[in-house]
Amino acid sequence: MISCNSNKIYSFCLALLFSFLTVFNTYAQGEQASVSQDGVTAGGASGGDDAQVQAGAALFKNNCVSCHALNEKVVGPALRDVHKKHEMPWLINWIRNSSKMVQSGDKYAVQIFNEYDKQQMPSFALSDDEITSIVKYIEVESAAPATAPTGTPANNQAATAVTDGPGGDSISGDVGKYLNIVLIALIVVLIVMVITLLIIANLMKEYLRGKKDLEGNDLEIVNQRFDFSKIYKSRAVQVIVGLIFAVVLLDTIIEETYAVGLQQGYQPRQPIAFSHKLHAGEHQIDCNYCHTSVYKSKNANIPSANICMNCHSQIQKESPEIRKIYTAIERNRPIEWVRVHNLPDLAYFNHSQHTKVGGIECQTCHGPIETMNVVYQYSPLTMGWCINCHREQPLNTEGNAYYDNLVKIHDQANKGAAFTVSSNGGTECSKCHY
Ligand code: HEC
Ligand code: HEC
Ligand code: HEC
Ligand code: HEC
Ligand code: HEC
Ligand code: HEC
Repeated sequence: MISCNSNKIYSFCLALLFSFLTVFNTYAQGEQASVSQDGVTAGGASGGDDAQVQAGAALFKNNCVSCHALNEKVVGPALRDVHKKHEMPWLINWIRNSSKMVQSGDKYAVQIFNEYDKQQMPSFALSDDEITSIVKYIEVESAAPATAPTGTPANNQAATAVTDGPGGDSISGDVGKYLNIVLIALIVVLIVMVITLLIIANLMKEYLRGKKDLEGNDLEIVNQRFDFSKIYKSRAVQVIVGLIFAVVLLDTIIEETYAVGLQQGYQPRQPIAFSHKLHAGEHQIDCNYCHTSVYKSKNANIPSANICMNCHSQIQKESPEIRKIYTAIERNRPIEWVRVHNLPDLAYFNHSQHTKVGGIECQTCHGPIETMNVVYQYSPLTMGWCINCHREQPLNTEGNAYYDNLVKIHDQANKGAAFTVSSNGGTECSKCHY
């Protein structure tokens, strides 16, 4: 006999709908995050290789983006269509240990090594499968139409990320649109499915009602009412909701871990609502007035509360924000500003070398600080970003006798090519890593 319980059908439908929606939502968010973090689009994959491509995308993001992009030279060459340029075994050997290949005298390896100023690409302890998935990812990305890299050389590694402010959630339009269409189509399909199932359930009831000699069990079903609390209590629904929750949590954690070290757009809340827009913008106070060491030493200092008091002992004495400066001084405690920019310890960066010697404006690296109410990290601060500028920025040699002779030798050897920071060794690993 018919032993189907229509409440089970309802809960099953609801659970199905809910799980599809959540999973696709997470998927869409994951895509957005991976796109906005480094301008590498992970979309466009098709067919059963999806998982492999996804794995490749993650590996690429973790190991390669600091030096490679698809469409432009960063530290190493652009990798678009690199799978057509080399056989798979060559690529595997190269990525695992490029210097061994150069030493072995492989003609192409030696050539590209020299072409890139003898910079060594690091070795990677990756398995064949992992390397294959990276190459697969590059292949899929190469087949997708190029999203034209925009932006200045100073921040082209993250061309699609932060250009108009913090947050950096600008999404490559194609991927977003594509996902939306899929999502809408799925919802429609699911709604149709749910309606069909409901109709079938009703038809069955009608059929049962038409019969005279009903058994107890079936009678119960016919007289049954739609009951939400049963769905809510249903074991299946509880298990599925729990599972989805776990998946979402895991996904978020993984995304966060990948994002470590890539802080572009980072904009922490500060303990006092100090505004650069007001001070450096409207009131045109020189950066140097507060960041007194920026032309003199490695670090730019954050001003002490006493510097604030030079002015605020006269102006705006009674506002609650200014009160906080007084409190800090009274308690003899520094104001606990939250650090925005932070290079990892393995890299050496010196402000005076760039501001005083190099003559580079603060805004080139820090963006339009004088328009920011709250400071955010404008540049990616990745190795590729540093090196890109060193490749292109002519050295400021004017009026510096030390350079005159060097420049003369360089000009004779390189007929007209600019004397860039890299001509002077500015892309040697040891300059930034000790
Ligand atoms: C520290 C910088 C750095 C990292 C990280 C890096 N590479 Fe490279 N890569 C280079 C440089 C520099 C070259 C150019 C050859 C040379 O100078 O050794 C290169 C060359 C290549 C080439 C040859 C390109 C061509 O046009 O023939 C491939 C392929 C490649 N890298 C893949 C990768 C992959 C995949 C990863 C991540 C697993 C990676 N690289 C990580 C710096 C890097
Ligand atoms: C009146 C003092 C004052 C002036 C003038 C000023 N700053 Fe600041 N700056 C601060 C204070 C205070 C902080 C720490 C709080 C914050 O991040 O907003 C800060 C933070 C910063 C940071 C972020 C530091 C970090 O935590 O990584 C940068 C970058 C910066 N300033 C650049 C500039 C530039 C460029 C100018 C000139 C256009 C300038 N500042 C002018 C007081 C000043
Ligand atoms: C060179 C003078 C000068 C210095 C130094 C200075 N300020 Fe100001 N600050 C001003 C002026 C001018 C205003 C605008 C007052 C107005 O709009 O009436 C202002 C306004 C402010 C305001 C907004 C006032 C409000 O009512 O909320 C805050 C907050 C503030 N400053 C914090 C600081 C802090 C923190 C420092 C030290 C890091 C600092 N200022 C250093 C000149 C200065
Ligand atoms: C060539 C790029 C570049 C230029 C030009 C530059 N900065 Fe920075 N700035 C950085 C980097 C990179 C950091 C992070 C340093 C670190 O974490 O060690 C930083 C950090 C800072 C900080 C936080 C404190 C510190 O030293 O870590 C302040 C404040 C700051 N810069 C202010 C300025 C001001 C003011 C100017 C202009 C006079 C300026 N910067 C010019 C790249 C630059
Ligand atoms: C102009 C400065 C500069 C030069 C030259 C430079 N690096 Fe870096 N490197 C950095 C900075 C800044 C970071 C940290 C930011 C990041 O991880 O992208 C870094 C990070 C790294 C990392 C850690 C990568 C990661 O993702 O954690 C490695 C490995 C590395 N560099 C190797 C090299 C090698 C090998 C060379 C020589 C080919 C080199 N670097 C030349 C500035 C430089
Ligand atoms: C906007 C361009 C620009 C960016 C971005 C930049 N630099 Fe530089 N850097 C220069 C210039 C210009 C010089 C040369 C200054 C001089 O000696 O005349 C220089 C010099 C250096 C030197 C000394 C090199 C030598 O030959 O002695 C080091 C080290 C260095 N930079 C590290 C870094 C690191 C690390 C980063 C990234 C966090 C970085 N730079 C980002 C422009 C830049």
